[in-house]
Amino acid sequence: MTAADLTVRSIEVWLREENDQRLNELWSAADEARRQHVGDEVHLRGLVEISNHCARHCLYCGLRADNRSLKRYRMTADEILSCATEAHRLGYGTLVMQSGEDYGLCAQWLAQVIRRVKSETPLAVTLSLGERPTEDLALWREAGADRYLLRFETSDRELYERIHPPRGGLLSDRLAMLPALRELGYEVGSGVMVGIPGQSYASLARDIELFRTMDLDMIGCGPYIPHPDTPLGRLAAESSAPGADQVPGTELMAYKVIALTRLVRPDANIPATTALAVLNPDEGRRLGLTRGANVIMPNLTPAKYRVHYEIYPGKPCHTETAEEVTRTLTELIASLGRTTGRGPGARTHGPRGITSPVR
Ligand code: 5AD
Repeated sequence: MTAADLTVRSIEVWLREENDQRLNELWSAADEARRQHVGDEVHLRGLVEISNHCARHCLYCGLRADNRSLKRYRMTADEILSCATEAHRLGYGTLVMQSGEDYGLCAQWLAQVIRRVKSETPLAVTLSLGERPTEDLALWREAGADRYLLRFETSDRELYERIHPPRGGLLSDRLAMLPALRELGYEVGSGVMVGIPGQSYASLARDIELFRTMDLDMIGCGPYIPHPDTPLGRLAAESSAPGADQVPGTELMAYKVIALTRLVRPDANIPATTALAVLNPDEGRRLGLTRGANVIMPNLTPAKYRVHYEIYPGKPCHTETAEEVTRTLTELIASLGRTTGRGPGARTHGPRGITSPVR
């Protein structure tokens, strides 16, 4: 099987495939494409969840503004800097700063944090801070941020609008923001959730086909996990059996999406996501890595904050130190005959790697 064989129709057929032997063909094809196009290096990106405040009301996410049962926090600049130093000490090449869409994170303040990370460490800086205004995104790029992650979640406009209400009457168009981020000089990452209530097989197949045509450096797709303090989570608890067109948010479906994404975008960076590791703590990451993924994002958020960054329930709250987690992952990577990447791990086969901000 090659990428050229995959049409929206055949992607949908693969998404519905249940036969183990056929699925083994899919895993092998994805693993081979991964090996040929991005090689055996697995990149570790240190994730720091810098704030769990959020101005949005997304129906699926536990950080939504009106979830009153969540204790809110914002990390200080010094706390973020010590996570960055830790990431560098552990041998990571990238720091990913993620938060809810938090306008309490003042753009100038964050620009200063980015400047400090860039001057005090050699790390690449990735931001994942939601749909901020273009001026903020430009300011952060100017301050030295290298990449921006913004999942479009689903390309089905109607479903997107249903689960992702606009903020203050402003149109939310993440698909339009991605080229704008590229224009600003960011390396751009996006992706979707797998198994959103109302997501059909045909719609997920179109998402994957869309990846082929988009200039994305990173594509992250993880299973949707219901959160009891969200409208969609409450709906899941009430509703009866889903229809035949509904994509299930299962571990198996997430692997199929990773593998098919690798086939349509063989040169992309594709993570074995945390949500996958939540569904299968023992094997999720290993299976992700052997079915198309080449990136892992270990969580470096201080434990006292991490418990409150509850996008979905069941996130691992390791009692191990970051050092132990890193050792375990390095061993896992070595056991697969792969190597742990050093340095930022920009996409090397694509049209561009990390560049300096345009001044
Ligand atoms: N289950 C799985 N993933 C989720 N995300 C948000 N809420 C959930 C959920 N309930 C994902 C979205 C978002 C990313 C940061 O986390 O895709 O872009």
